[in-house]
Amino acid sequence: MLVTGGAGFLGSHLCDRLIAEGCSVVCVDNFFTGAKRNVAHLLNHPGFELLRHDVTFPLYVEVNQIFNLACPASPIHYQHDPVQTTKTSVHGAINMLGLAKRTRAKIFQASTSEVYGDPEVHPQAESYWGRVNPIGIRSCYDEGKRCAETLFFDYHRQHRLRIKVARIFNTYGPRMHPHDGRVVSNFIVQALTNQPITIFGDGSQSRSFCYVSDLIEGFMRLMASPDEVTGPVNLGNPVEFTIAELAELVIKLTNSKSKLIRNPLPQDDPKQRKPDTTLAESKLGWRATVPLEKGLEQTIAYFDELLRTTGELAGARAR
Ligand SMILES: NC(=O)c1ccc[n+]([C@@H]2O[C@H](COP(=O)([O-])OP(=O)(O)OC[C@H]3O[C@@H](n4cnc5c(N)ncnc54)[C@H](O)[C@@H]3O)[C@@H](O)[C@H]2O)c1
Repeated sequence: MLVTGGAGFLGSHLCDRLIAEGCSVVCVDNFFTGAKRNVAHLLNHPGFELLRHDVTFPLYVEVNQIFNLACPASPIHYQHDPVQTTKTSVHGAINMLGLAKRTRAKIFQASTSEVYGDPEVHPQAESYWGRVNPIGIRSCYDEGKRCAETLFFDYHRQHRLRIKVARIFNTYGPRMHPHDGRVVSNFIVQALTNQPITIFGDGSQSRSFCYVSDLIEGFMRLMASPDEVTGPVNLGNPVEFTIAELAELVIKLTNSKSKLIRNPLPQDDPKQRKPDTTLAESKLGWRATVPLEKGLEQTIAYFDELLRTTGELAGARAR
């Protein structure tokens, strides 16, 4: 099994799951947003191999299955070098699809709910084509991922590759990057350090939050599904919360003294985001099961530990 982006948040949980199931795993990462510490516990495992490599360059390894997760996922990181972000999605997809073609491997793409852009329909089903700004500051990510989907389906039609495309909705859990600006990690770090919790806009915009173990179960089921199940398949938790509700819950679970402050809404920020998971339920028998409060407890425990042991958040805590 090849996992690109394997030292990242989702990739490292996927590596854990594959190793637990007895697979041999080649984990590929350029460590742009990933970290060795996410897979450090696997380094001595005989079935695990870690390779520093950038997927925008070709890769020659012998594998049966490829999970293509390499791509920075948070706006702060993907906007840092937008040209590299598009290259990672597009050249990365071409390189991994080329590898799949040569080895006849089955290949999985970590796509995103961002392919729906700022949607006019709610919730979003896979049949919805999206409303995406092609020239905005989020376009390197959104359009890069859309183009990657196109490549996957063209390789499927033209070269008969076995493909699996998952459209992932907001997922959270331990090993999220502490400074990536994503709402769950942001709120938790702010609450644990008793800093003000920044809400963009009035906090009435809604999001759905999927816990990482639920998502990885969805990945495994999709990869194991019959060849005719190509996706795209939405994977996410359809239970909606407003951003203000999330902030209140994080404050409660951390016993924080943080106050809420409001900042202007960033450009192209979607107002609502909720998956229609009917397809995943019918084709994969999958649905998210971990309640937000339970998942947040695990995630808060992870960040609390990170704060105390690595000093990574020391600056934030001192403020
Ligand atoms: N977490 C979510 O809520 C979410 C939602 C939708 C889609 N996704 C997708 O899932 C995948 C994993 O996301 P994540 O949340 O784990 O983010 P992440 O940033 O933690 O992981 C991405 C990994 O890819 C690596 N990477 C980036 N560019 C690379 C390159 N050119 N070559 C090799 N490695 C590279 C990073 O170093 C990192 O380890 C991404 O493709 C992302 O777009 C995630």
